[in-house]
Amino acid sequence: MKDKLIIFDTTLRDGEQSPGASMTRDEKVRIARALERLKVDVIEAGFPAASDGDFAAVKAVAGAIKDSTVCGLARALDKDIDRAGEALKQAQSSRIHTFIATSPIHMQMKLKMSPEQVIEYAVKAVKRARLYTDNVEFSPEDAGRSEEDFLCRILEAVIDAGATTLNIPDTVGYSIPAEFGAMIANLRRRIPNADKAIFSVHCHNDLGLAVANSLSAVMNGARQVECTINGLGERAGNAALEEVVMAIKTRHDVFSCDTRLDTREIVACSKLVSSITGFPVQPNKAIVGANAFAHESGIHQDGVLKNRETYEIMRAEDVGWSANRMVLGKHSGRNAFKNRMTELGFEFQSESELNDAFYRFKQLADKKHEIFDEDLQALITAVNTDSEEEHYKLIALKVCSETGETPNANVTVKIGKQEFSAESEGSGAVDASLKAIDSIVNSDASLELYSVNSITNGTDAQGEVTVRLEKGGRVVNGLGADTDIVIASAKAYINALNKLEDKGEKQHPQV
Ligand code: KIV
Ligand code: ZN
Repeated sequence: MKDKLIIFDTTLRDGEQSPGASMTRDEKVRIARALERLKVDVIEAGFPAASDGDFAAVKAVAGAIKDSTVCGLARALDKDIDRAGEALKQAQSSRIHTFIATSPIHMQMKLKMSPEQVIEYAVKAVKRARLYTDNVEFSPEDAGRSEEDFLCRILEAVIDAGATTLNIPDTVGYSIPAEFGAMIANLRRRIPNADKAIFSVHCHNDLGLAVANSLSAVMNGARQVECTINGLGERAGNAALEEVVMAIKTRHDVFSCDTRLDTREIVACSKLVSSITGFPVQPNKAIVGANAFAHESGIHQDGVLKNRETYEIMRAEDVGWSANRMVLGKHSGRNAFKNRMTELGFEFQSESELNDAFYRFKQLADKKHEIFDEDLQALITAVNTDSEEEHYKLIALKVCSETGETPNANVTVKIGKQEFSAESEGSGAVDASLKAIDSIVNSDASLELYSVNSITNGTDAQGEVTVRLEKGGRVVNGLGADTDIVIASAKAYINALNKLEDKGEKQHPQV
């Protein structure tokens, strides 16, 4: 019998800390449902003390998820722990994850606390979290740069206080695999009550070693790995869930543990996270990149045709890559549409929401005869980003683009109840459209990123555009999808401008 390796997904918390990746409550619920279908053990839904919006999002995820434990992050402060406990009240199974920094540089420069004070805060936080749930995780932040003797002391104390999971974060991605694995082995050996808790790891990817460090820790007894879909996360990101899970599965000959994940859900989950956050997946990304299972060279293709194992160590179908499957078409009715949306984890809140989505579906099906799951996901994102409540709304766009002529765009945008029109030239149709919008809005924001991705195959596919804007230190990603990429670009730009309008302040857990 192999041990169980617990997969703790933090896409909705650490993933959300990537610049511009912030998600709405409904988007978080959609991703949480996809993670539940993937059979992730623990979903870290957010940091409830960050803002009222974050509290509401964690609460909504806690209410929606039945088959995974829902976790909330809290600094080692009473007010954070109470907020997390409150947000998780409705969860079928809940966990509070509390943390405090333990490296000399963090204790001196950030916390301005003595090591003794840090232990006192940690113990108090764990005891308080136990008042809400018997599933409590403690993390010594920046453990990768902490002194081992101090880690032994604080971890022994928090186990005595009731912590059931000890998570060892390599917060700044500084560790290397042999060293990090040895650290886990040493802590397990040296802490007298170590057998009363599960050891977990949380690795950042600053040196590109997050997955390698996590796997090295597993080989040394860690039985929980914290990771994110597509490796999303602060700076260079976290360990990628899909890579950790497929390494454990593919190399079951070297790992003495197994996960319970349904790996066939990986690609769908990856596409959903990418489309909601606006972080495209690079084509050569392991497991979920478009080229991960593509064989270009003739020699490779020949080998794979004779026997797939010559060049393939995993089967594309096992991670959910299947040829795009047409799920609905022009003649599909309202019920077929509603059923497929339910299967994708989306629940309409009202008849009018369903009617609006179905109307958009019919419009899309008129332009594009085959509708795939990816199109439906994009359609829901559109329903959420194009409501009447938005500050700016794209009403009309007309572009003129001709060889040898300067492209020109004419745009109408609604602000509040009033419509404004403007015209602009640009180096291309997209440039002209965004300039025309900006001449109405005068946003003063700088464009940090513009990218177009085709959602499915074929020239009639929808293009999904991401626009990243920065203003006064705030970064937001706007998304737009349409079979016409100029219109998709204008929608994405308007979506980013709307996000900049929403000034809701949010506390970062680690600052
Ligand atoms: O990277 C880190 O240390 C964290 C903690 C909050 C666990 O994300
Ligand atoms: Zn982290």
